[in-house]
Amino acid sequence: MLQIAIEAALEAGKYLKENVGKIRHIDRKEGQETNLVTEIDKKAEETIIGKIKKSYPDHDFLGEESGSAEIKSEYRWIIDPLDGTVNYTHGLPIFCVSIGLEHKGKIVLGVVYDPSLDELFTAERGKGAWLNKKRIEVSKSTTLIESLVVTGFPYTVNKNPEPDITHFRNFVIEAQAVRRLGSAALDLSYVAAGRFDGFWEGSLNPWDMAAGVLLVTEAGGKWTDYQGSPSNVYNKQMLATNGLIHEQMMVVLKKGMGGK
Ligand code: IPD
Ligand code: CA
Ligand code: CA
Repeated sequence: MLQIAIEAALEAGKYLKENVGKIRHIDRKEGQETNLVTEIDKKAEETIIGKIKKSYPDHDFLGEESGSAEIKSEYRWIIDPLDGTVNYTHGLPIFCVSIGLEHKGKIVLGVVYDPSLDELFTAERGKGAWLNKKRIEVSKSTTLIESLVVTGFPYTVNKNPEPDITHFRNFVIEAQAVRRLGSAALDLSYVAAGRFDGFWEGSLNPWDMAAGVLLVTEAGGKWTDYQGSPSNVYNKQMLATNGLIHEQMMVVLKKGMGGK
């Protein structure tokens, strides 16, 4: 299954890379002016699902662009064919393909492929996390002031800026530095690889995180909601860290929510 997921991610990633700057249609989703989808997102998802279905026709699928197809299998593939669509439409080479596999409610396999850097992140439950076949581990930073942290914003942030803007402001003050890359799957992969020490985001979808959360936990990191409770990919709140700065990030998030 891992091999099929890798092949699907590489094929879709190659297609994304070849089509940078060649988008013909940009639509807005759900009436949101900033939530974009292109024909490239849709074609990439068709490629991935088509490839996996050839080997596993009885599995379920949850794709960002095609929604959920349920056959009531124990296996459910959770797919973001293009994570970082806004970057992609601007030709900014920070985007990826994300494929996670859920088995009986647990993520057992995750693949994130960044075609711009040719970086392939893979994880299998209980078998560690890898970047281009080299084992990866989370960072060892123990304080927020020596930590590089990252976040993202939902497409509705222009209408409902709080509490996300407050959290951003607070981390800018408390951390070494804050980044906003525009691809949640890469944010998580980079926590797994020790490039970021922590990542928080308030409103993610299962396809943004399915692969990335397994990468983080298999690399030795921690993933919970903002209150520190164990999470699942259907819970929109995300806090993923190297484990060592988890509590410190929770304190900042609590402060941003008026102490709740
Ligand atoms: C988005 C990106 C972004 C995050 C948004 C996601 P998309 O996914 O991951 O970093 O902040 O919440 O919706 O739309 O580019 O697949
Ligand atoms: Ca996404
Ligand atoms: Ca997407």
